[in-house]
Amino acid sequence: MCGIFAYNGTQNSVPFLIEWLRNLEYRGYDSAGIYCINNKKEALLEKAIWKVSNLATKVERNKEKLDNYNSGIAHTRWATHGKVTVENTHPHYSQNERFYVVHNGIIENYMELKEHLQKKYTFYSDTDTEVVSKLVEELFDWDIFSTLEKVTNKLVWAYAIAIIDKENPETLVGAKLGSPMIVWIGENGVFLSSDINAISNVAHEFTTLEDNETVELKNGNYTVYSLGEVVKKETEEVDDRFEKADKGIFETFTEKEIHEIPSVLRNALKGRINFETKEINNETLSALNEYDIDNIEIIASGSSYFAWVVGASWFKEVAQIKAEVRISSEFLYETFIPSKRTLYIFMSQSGETADVREWLKMVKQKGCLTFGIVNVVGSTIARMCDMGLYSHSGIEIWVASTKNIVAQLAVLLTMSISMWLNRDLQMKDAKAYIEKLEELPNKLEGQLEQKNTIKVLAKKYSKYSNFFYLGKNLLYWTACECSLKLKELSYVHAEAYSTGELKHGPLALITPDFPVIAINPKNELRDKNISNIKEIKARSGTVLGVITAGDTTKEIYDDVIEMPKTHNILTPFLPLIPLWLFSVEIAKELGKDIDKPQNLAKSVTVE
Ligand code: M6R
Repeated sequence: MCGIFAYNGTQNSVPFLIEWLRNLEYRGYDSAGIYCINNKKEALLEKAIWKVSNLATKVERNKEKLDNYNSGIAHTRWATHGKVTVENTHPHYSQNERFYVVHNGIIENYMELKEHLQKKYTFYSDTDTEVVSKLVEELFDWDIFSTLEKVTNKLVWAYAIAIIDKENPETLVGAKLGSPMIVWIGENGVFLSSDINAISNVAHEFTTLEDNETVELKNGNYTVYSLGEVVKKETEEVDDRFEKADKGIFETFTEKEIHEIPSVLRNALKGRINFETKEINNETLSALNEYDIDNIEIIASGSSYFAWVVGASWFKEVAQIKAEVRISSEFLYETFIPSKRTLYIFMSQSGETADVREWLKMVKQKGCLTFGIVNVVGSTIARMCDMGLYSHSGIEIWVASTKNIVAQLAVLLTMSISMWLNRDLQMKDAKAYIEKLEELPNKLEGQLEQKNTIKVLAKKYSKYSNFFYLGKNLLYWTACECSLKLKELSYVHAEAYSTGELKHGPLALITPDFPVIAINPKNELRDKNISNIKEIKARSGTVLGVITAGDTTKEIYDDVIEMPKTHNILTPFLPLIPLWLFSVEIAKELGKDIDKPQNLAKSVTVE
């Protein structure tokens, strides 16, 4: 949700700004812009809609003007207030064209501020950020740093902002509340960014700003302040965890990430389960078992939410602990009754999702026990939780979440087995789960070989505009996840229903041109599902079955994708790879940008 980047040093900032803006593009790719300046106060403002490459082309045309801008701010936008236009593209500026601002977040009271500022200033954009630039002009007290404090006092969050004062180009200031911000010193100057992905290949260490902290970047150094006082900050080392994203042999990052799933799963289990002794072997989980927990509440969004619902069922079924799942954006507005015997689990790939983070803050304020399952090491949610496990799925750079969901599921199942062993000690059954879990990565690896079959099916099914995804019990949630992926990647309408629910209304939509993807592995629910599938076929519906290999009921479907056999508890893992590949292939058939779907961004840092 918008990426900001800033540089102040001795080199020409333009190449830095463009290169690292590309690394932040997954935070939004509706438009991009830079403002650069040198000590002679010569400046360059450049903006372009859509991808950073458009901005790069525009900047390239001005090549002769590009020397020596040793300070600059940059922004890649995910539109919240106002359409995708050049006018709405950051950096935004004050009426006197002296103060330039980039911002990630949403200024919730911007309407009220704008109403007041409109009496003095003319606005050129629809953004909330332009209000900040006009406010800087109004409150300017001849010192940009002390003005920053006056400005932030007026803002109802959320923000990570960086500002340049054209008359004092040697100083750059930033502030944050809610949205993430890091700073670091490099060889040729000092840098500020929304996150570590911008710089993983160049910085050695970095500092994370906390809410209400401000920062001054000057003379190749930075100083962090809180309530006007200098704060001594720790730095963190940039290590291998922050790998550089690379597509390898794949056309898209999304496909590469799907192909990494078997190794991601091995990694998520490694060091947590001892497959030789069939025991859970993890310090965090042992520490968790010391708490007297009788209830679990789980808070997540999007794909993380779907993984959670499966996880909650495992907690109930396997560990016999009550577990409830909440969509983070809704949970925020429900009455919260804190409980000391409840474990509050926050699950997020990015570790930055705004409403998950806000809930975490609230639960922590009430003194309850918080546990994070996060992928991005050092992210806000990871740092805030009392304890947690990383999903360790490696960098998931573009919008569709795939491999991390599998890692999240692995962590959830390991947690449930650990909690169950702690309460019940039915070692025999636990061993059976662990045995099957050990076989799972190889089974998923085998699924990747179906790629060509899926390609052919996608070609056939790409002519349809609407899909139902059906599943029963835990597989209903897998159906929800896979239908989300089709919508997200191909912009084709897809809805998920529990198989038996179709005849309570949605069946009215069934025609040969409204296909159904029916997830129906060979288990005790298969025949019930078959009855429902027959009802669809009786109405000339088209059904693509996702079924267990060797199932003799194959002929009732128009087409099938086969899944390997496994323990029933593990079936939610099985439809994911084939149906995600199916979505990718349909998106390719329709000519969509798979890594950068329209209207979306990877990290949802605004509520
Ligand atoms: O980073 P998070 O796991 O908190 O993100 C949650 C959702 O925004 C995310 O899963 C989203 O639904 C994905 N784009 C789905 O592929």
